[in-house]
Amino acid sequence: MRLGLIGFGTIGQTLIQSLQDDPSLEWVAVMDTSEQAKAKAARSLPESVRITDHLEDLLEARPDFVIEAASQGAVRAFAEPLLREGISLMILSTGAFADRDLFYQCVEQARANRARILVPTGAIAGLDAVRALAERPIYKAILTTTKPPDSLQDAPYVQEHDMDLFRYSSVTQIFEGSPFEVVQAFPRNTNVAMAFTLALEGKIEPVVRVQVDPTSRENVHELFVDGEVGCLQMKVRNKPFPLNPKTSYLAALSAVRTIRDLLSPIQIGG
Ligand SMILES: NC(=O)c1ccc[n+]([C@@H]2O[C@H](COP(=O)([O-])OP(=O)(O)OC[C@H]3O[C@@H](n4cnc5c(N)ncnc54)[C@H](O)[C@@H]3O)[C@@H](O)[C@H]2O)c1
Repeated sequence: MRLGLIGFGTIGQTLIQSLQDDPSLEWVAVMDTSEQAKAKAARSLPESVRITDHLEDLLEARPDFVIEAASQGAVRAFAEPLLREGISLMILSTGAFADRDLFYQCVEQARANRARILVPTGAIAGLDAVRALAERPIYKAILTTTKPPDSLQDAPYVQEHDMDLFRYSSVTQIFEGSPFEVVQAFPRNTNVAMAFTLALEGKIEPVVRVQVDPTSRENVHELFVDGEVGCLQMKVRNKPFPLNPKTSYLAALSAVRTIRDLLSPIQIGG
């Protein structure tokens, strides 16, 4: 399978490193707007990989499948044109789908052109069970994200409310709202919130809570879903990525796993 990548950052590099020995995968193009990232890609990737900042070059390399690991802006700019060409897409910047118009347009393009959109579970877990529960009525759904103060201090909501997160001495809730309010308030938390929202298939809009924990270095996500057929409680304690503490290691590996599953004769879970 011919692969293209948008975003040669923490997750993109992990993907390439983790999958480079798989003979059934061929990386044909890497796209990034950063000169630094492109230079690093040129140093570390085989000459056969086209390195570019133009969508046209990516398309010319004829990938079967493209992975977006860049930014919500990249999803807005490139998802529809790729899907229109019938190229399937894995999206890491899931928060972009808080824009419902963009989401439905992408799904429509995928349907019309026999492409697929894959949203990996990312930094959380259990979206298979959430989707199964959503086959029947759901009564309540809550996502609680707990992070250290330095991961949250620069969020727009914290800045607008003039909050000093370093003054707390114990775990404290600082926000509760809808996933769509999270987009404005805590943009870096929208990926997990939107993945959870999409998994609930429109059965219910989850409540999203953000907490600060002054004693932890981990990013913790807790899912709670109560429905007709049962109740799900799931807690993930993510170690920060050594190179980029704002990204959870698990998110990168979830993307690796999703690509492996594309080729595997057997899929466990999902
Ligand atoms: N789904 C999840 O659970 C989850 C978890 C962590 C991160 N993410 C998201 O995945 C994305 C990548 O994360 P990361 O930690 O690798 O980020 P990163 O900052 O390490 O790397 C992103 C790379 O993409 C490039 N880029 C940004 N916008 C671009 C554009 N429009 N066109 C081309 N290149 C562009 C940047 O120059 C950079 O090299 C982010 O949007 C992040 O929010 C999702």
